[in-house]
Amino acid sequence: MGIANARVALDASPLEAVRRVLHPELNSAHVRFIGLHKTYPGQDAPALADIDLTIQHGEIFGIIGRSGAGKSSLIRTINRLEQPSGGRVLIDQVDIAGYDEDQLVTLRRRIGMIFQHFNLMSAKTVWQNVELPLKVAGVPKAERRRKVEALLELVGLQEKHHVYPAQLSGGQKQRVGIARALVHDPAILLCDEATSALDPETTESILGLLRDINRRLGLTIVLITHEMAVIRDICHRVVVLERGRVVEQGEVWEVFGDPRHDVSRTLLAPLQPALPPSLLERLLPTAPDANAALVLRLRISGQDREAPDLAALFAALGGKVSLLQGGIEPIQDRALGQLVVSVSGSPHAHEAIIERARHWAAQVEVLGYVV
Ligand SMILES: Nc1ncnc2c1ncn2[C@@H]1O[C@H](COP(=O)(O)OP(=O)(O)OP(=O)(O)O)[C@@H](O)[C@H]1O
Ligand SMILES: [Mg+2]
Repeated sequence: MGIANARVALDASPLEAVRRVLHPELNSAHVRFIGLHKTYPGQDAPALADIDLTIQHGEIFGIIGRSGAGKSSLIRTINRLEQPSGGRVLIDQVDIAGYDEDQLVTLRRRIGMIFQHFNLMSAKTVWQNVELPLKVAGVPKAERRRKVEALLELVGLQEKHHVYPAQLSGGQKQRVGIARALVHDPAILLCDEATSALDPETTESILGLLRDINRRLGLTIVLITHEMAVIRDICHRVVVLERGRVVEQGEVWEVFGDPRHDVSRTLLAPLQPALPPSLLERLLPTAPDANAALVLRLRISGQDREAPDLAALFAALGGKVSLLQGGIEPIQDRALGQLVVSVSGSPHAHEAIIERARHWAAQVEVLGYVV
């Protein structure tokens, strides 16, 4: 299969379609880690422990975690740049542990990889950088030409084919890296901090390119990043690693909307807007008098597909409701966000207000009182 994508395969042949209906697992698992362990020589603590994880065909799968959590170690077991100490890595149901050198060469051609620092050859032009892996693989000249041309067009660098990496911006270098990673029509693209060296605007354009490649080529993308916005913007599912273990995983909207583990909450905190200083100054821990308004933070976790009905929410809270801060942001067609509101009402009504707010929000936090 040129591109190992179940959705492509479904319309390939009736027999294949039947086989996939009878074996639904073929529609999904692209990479499976089963009880994966990795301890580096000379290290006491394992870099990876008890990893059980499935990456589906055609998805963009994010891996997050603090520095040293084991993200790079994990991703590098997929192309056997890292050898597991125990457990199994299956690609399309095949255990790659037993692969000999030749099989590893073939495997690594089917798995492209891009890095933070691009790893381009400075003495070679853009064209030559992309062409090199094809030359090494013995691909005939005409075929190389066709391929390099098509890839440079895909990444939008046709005009730059003759220049050297030093003459390129960071974003352009990463585009060359992406083109080079795709020369052998890989089924999987591994990205280890691929946008970390780029400014926000360039990151945006590289993410757009990755999304496009994922959609157009049906490529499975496994992506490590320290930038939570990258996960939010392009990933379908995400796993959180801590000390080599999976502590949380799920659809991006689920994990981002209601992170359960402390590490996930810490990692995602930068995405939460800080309370405005002017509000913080006015916030009181207890109600000073009967006219004080209750200040609540309502977190909307996306459990309902519908965006919140604000008129109904404000009516339910009762009294005078002011929106002090907040907004809703769609992630994967789910409405996620937070609203900070003040609700006036006599203090004995506060419990009832909080109770009603809980019908509307996944989390209701009492921030304090304002007069
Ligand atoms: N070649 C190696 N030899 C010994 N220990 C290693 C080696 N590579 C990684 N480690 C250790 O394994 C653990 C996981 O490292 P890894 O590089 O996978 O983390 P990471 O999550 O990618 O971190 P970062 O976000 O900083 O890139 C760390 O404790 C690290 O020190
Ligand atoms: Mg790393």
